[in-house]
Amino acid sequence: MEEIKDHFGRTFKTLRISLINTCNLACTYCSYSNDDDQKNNAVNKGNNLKTKELTDLIIRLHERLNLGSIRFTGGEPLLYKELPALIEGVRKLGITDLNLTTNGLLLQKQASALKAAGLTAINVSLDATDPLTFFMMARRHGLEQTLKGIDAALHAGITVKINSVIMKGLNENQVIPLLKYAADQQLIIRFLEIMAMGHLHGKADDYFFSQAEILKLISTRHRFTPVQRTKSATANYWQTEAGHIFGIIANESQPFCTDCDRLRLDAYGNIYGCLSSNQPISIRDISDPALLDLSLKEALKQKQTIKFTGSKLSMLHIGG
Ligand code: GTP
Ligand code: 5AD
Repeated sequence: MEEIKDHFGRTFKTLRISLINTCNLACTYCSYSNDDDQKNNAVNKGNNLKTKELTDLIIRLHERLNLGSIRFTGGEPLLYKELPALIEGVRKLGITDLNLTTNGLLLQKQASALKAAGLTAINVSLDATDPLTFFMMARRHGLEQTLKGIDAALHAGITVKINSVIMKGLNENQVIPLLKYAADQQLIIRFLEIMAMGHLHGKADDYFFSQAEILKLISTRHRFTPVQRTKSATANYWQTEAGHIFGIIANESQPFCTDCDRLRLDAYGNIYGCLSSNQPISIRDISDPALLDLSLKEALKQKQTIKFTGSKLSMLHIGG
């Protein structure tokens, strides 16, 4: 069968699945600004896919795309009750690069089951090492629980990276402490420029703290050299004089759309060709392969080549 490609010859090899669009934190940059905002989100309707339905959908997508890797996101994916069973089912399809992006709050309980199910690696979101700043960013408490979760994942033998969204005026003073925490734990950390998603669409400039500003801050403490970028990676990486690797996901100041190979599936069975698309394409009821092809080609048309343009859809829904 002919491989599905976009106008630029790109294929979808990485599937990001948002399992659930609720979360046990309410991070300022990710969740809705208020209840009305949440209610008015048009995609926020219907029933979440259950494990059997989701696994069947993944099978159909894998048959057509020959997926190399899957990343489970949310909302908070650890709130999805049957995650280990889902991971196990997907691993049996022969997809072995299985990753998770989580806030880590529930990791302490779940890390060993996830490892046993076949999870490869976890990216944990952590925006502060100081409890008050953590609360200001997440609008919930949970620093200690997150740190325990990271420890549990490492103990279970899972590779962990840290994602830290940096917002001007809120947590830029956490860059150095977060870097120190990661170096002490021997973990790769990536600092993220804020993306204009959800209620921040059109307003993210107020909080924007750029890659250049992050590097300037780090240079007050460390010398570092760039590490070669790998194809389709989201981050630029550097290595400090002590050998610690850190990265920056510079969505705004250095877009990386050109070699994107990602397709997104949300918790309701909609696909999106791009993070900035707010045009969901429902595939949950499609069983005819020819119709699935049409939907995939439609999603490919959403792919951008130059710059991430933001979206009114919340990151809580589409999963980053
Ligand atoms: P690794 O494979 O470990 O590098 O993970 P990742 O960076 O692909 O995934 P993660 O869930 O940790 O996402 C980190 C950030 O990258 C999030 O803010 C995402 O929104 C952003 N990101 C992921 N995919 C894309 C993409 O296709 N386009 C853009 N512009 N940003 C993306
Ligand atoms: N801008 C940048 N990063 C964000 N994330 C969620 N919302 C935003 C945003 N508006 C991050 C999370 C998680 C990753 C998937 O995306 O912190 O680490």
